[in-house]
Amino acid sequence: MARSPGLIVALDTADPSQAAAWAARLAPHAGLFKLGLEFFIANGPAGVRAFGQPVFLDLKLHDIPATVAGAVRASLPLAPRLLTVHATGGGAMVAAARRAAEAAGEDRPRILAVTVLTSLDDQALAATGIAARAADHVLRLAGLALAAGADGLVCSPHEVALLRSAFGEAPLLVVPGIRPRGAEVQDQARTMSPAEAGAAGADWIVVGRPITAAADPAAAAAAIRREMAAATG
Ligand code: C5P
Repeated sequence: MARSPGLIVALDTADPSQAAAWAARLAPHAGLFKLGLEFFIANGPAGVRAFGQPVFLDLKLHDIPATVAGAVRASLPLAPRLLTVHATGGGAMVAAARRAAEAAGEDRPRILAVTVLTSLDDQALAATGIAARAADHVLRLAGLALAAGADGLVCSPHEVALLRSAFGEAPLLVVPGIRPRGAEVQDQARTMSPAEAGAAGADWIVVGRPITAAADPAAAAAAIRREMAAATG
C-alpha cells in the first residue's frame, strides 16, 4: 500500500558537535534522528541525553535474554523512540527486549528486529552455517521476531513488499538503503528512491550521507520529503 513514510536522518558520527549541528539544521525536515554504535560508544548515554532530540537508537543488541532486557531497561531514561535488536538472538531474547521496553508505558521504545545484515550475501551467509537463501532467512527471522513481540523490522527496500505480503500492515518497516534519484550510491549495493520505498510500504526511510554529505543538508532533506509527498499525493 502506498504511504508517505517518515524521514529518519542517520547521523553517523562520533562527534557530538557535528551531530548537534546537523540536528539544528535538519530538525524542521526530519521526523527522527538515528544515532548508532559509533555515536553511542564515543559519547555514551550522556551524549544521547545532551543531543536532546527524539532518537532511533540503533544499537543492534544481541546477547542472552537477561542481558538484552537489562540493556533495554537501561536505555529507558533516554526515551528512544525506536531501538534495534538482532532477530538471530532468538525469540526469547526478542520477547525479553519487548517486556523490558513495556516498563516505559505507552511511549515505550518500539523494538525493531534486524534480520540478515545487508552486508551478507548468500555465500557469506553459507559461511556462517546458514544454508538458506538470504531472502528466505529474512522471512524466517522476521516471522520469529514478530511472533516474539517485535514491533517491526529494519529491512532493505527490496524486502518491503515481500514482508508486507507475509506479515500485513501492522509491523513497522524501517528502511535504509535509500538514494534519491541522481544521488551517489556510496557503499549501498541495492537501493531504491524515497518515493519507491514509500510505494512499497515503508513506514520510515533512513537516509544518511545523501543528506549529511550534501552541500546543503537541509535542502537535500526537504527535496526528499517533497519527492515522497509527490509520490503519495
Ligand atoms: O549514509 P546511508 O544513507 O547509507 O546511511 C544508512 C544508515 O542506515 C547507516 O547508518 C547504516 O548503518 C544504516 N543501515 C544500512 N543498512 C542496513 C541497516 C542499517 O544502511 N541493513
